[in-house]
Amino acid sequence: MHCVRPIVSDVLLVGASDRRLALFENIYPIPRGVSYNAYLVLDEKTVLLDTADSAVSVRFLENLAHGLQGRSLNYIIVNHMEPDHCATLADVLRLYPEAKIVASAKAISMIGQFFDCDVTNRCTAVKEGDTLSTGRHNFTFAMAPMVHWPEVMVTYDTTDKILFSADAFGTFGALNGNIFADEVAFESEWLPDARRYYTNIVGKYGPQVQTLLKKAAGLDIQFLCPLHGPIWRENTGWFVEKYQRWSSYTPEENTVAIFCGSVYGNTENAADILAAALAERGVRHVALYDVSHTDLSHLVAEAFRCSHLVFASATYNNGIFTPMETLLMDLKAHNLQNRTVALIENGTWAPQAGKLMGELVNGMKNMTLLEGTVSLKSAVKERASLESLADALAAGLQ
Ligand code: FEO
Repeated sequence: MHCVRPIVSDVLLVGASDRRLALFENIYPIPRGVSYNAYLVLDEKTVLLDTADSAVSVRFLENLAHGLQGRSLNYIIVNHMEPDHCATLADVLRLYPEAKIVASAKAISMIGQFFDCDVTNRCTAVKEGDTLSTGRHNFTFAMAPMVHWPEVMVTYDTTDKILFSADAFGTFGALNGNIFADEVAFESEWLPDARRYYTNIVGKYGPQVQTLLKKAAGLDIQFLCPLHGPIWRENTGWFVEKYQRWSSYTPEENTVAIFCGSVYGNTENAADILAAALAERGVRHVALYDVSHTDLSHLVAEAFRCSHLVFASATYNNGIFTPMETLLMDLKAHNLQNRTVALIENGTWAPQAGKLMGELVNGMKNMTLLEGTVSLKSAVKERASLESLADALAAGLQ
């Protein structure tokens, strides 16, 4: 049975949520599930904007059929060809043989890569600024390459001021009846997953997101309709400002995140002492994570949130403790920059982690590495060096 909600009278959300998938993209834990949003416009011509993941194909196709109420489907606008949004495209093309595809040229070539069906005569390639009128609605297309794949475009409905924004402004989390961001406690319950979604999936492509934000700034946006998560119709500027920060690698908060890689707990003890010393100096919202136990996607999101980062690692196989090395390489892969960094190393006979972590941090853009790595031999024997580090971090935060 269908599960459709209207956004405006003739624009319906026909996507579906998956609460069973453990790992989005087979890598990111999603305990709150994920939604695959597809939108149906019931104009003089009918238009489907994107499809859905194969895991929700039954519900999505039911929703689509219910929304159409026996009408034919005239257009499928493909904003993004990643399989979480296009896996059911071949089914839709088969069920609605009269439907024409409207997409970027790159997206059209990807259809041939993913599917065996010949769509040559069913596709119209659009480029920046091209338009499509379907009666009451007028759509304008804007290219958004690398937000998050090269073929991505966004679609703006000039009639109802709706921006169909593809992956941009998406978030992890299933939609539970409340499809609008103003119907849920977004800041307290959704923002961490929105940050984790953005930073891990699109975080590397900050400059390209900035380009899209500049295009969006010139539009009157009444509805922001992403491919994942709630739809925005109120206070949209608040979420756009988050995207401004994330995509410009500007911290959200002046505080310290301590990432600790500890084999037997002695390096963790140093991290705990530093966290307490920071708190005593008035630093609020200090975060401390054991990198062996917190999923990497959360660590990346926290590094994007905080202005000051401390990496505390044991030496392991004459190198950096493996999960810490993975974290640092992942932060570099996600293009993290503009942070102040301090290091703590440990090693019972030949501490190496500090030097090697420093090399990785120096390989990232615009990172300020504080002098004076705190070096432990096996265990913390004095607090003075950690107190000094707390002084330096607290001074930098003021
Ligand atoms: Fe939600 Fe890039 O796909």
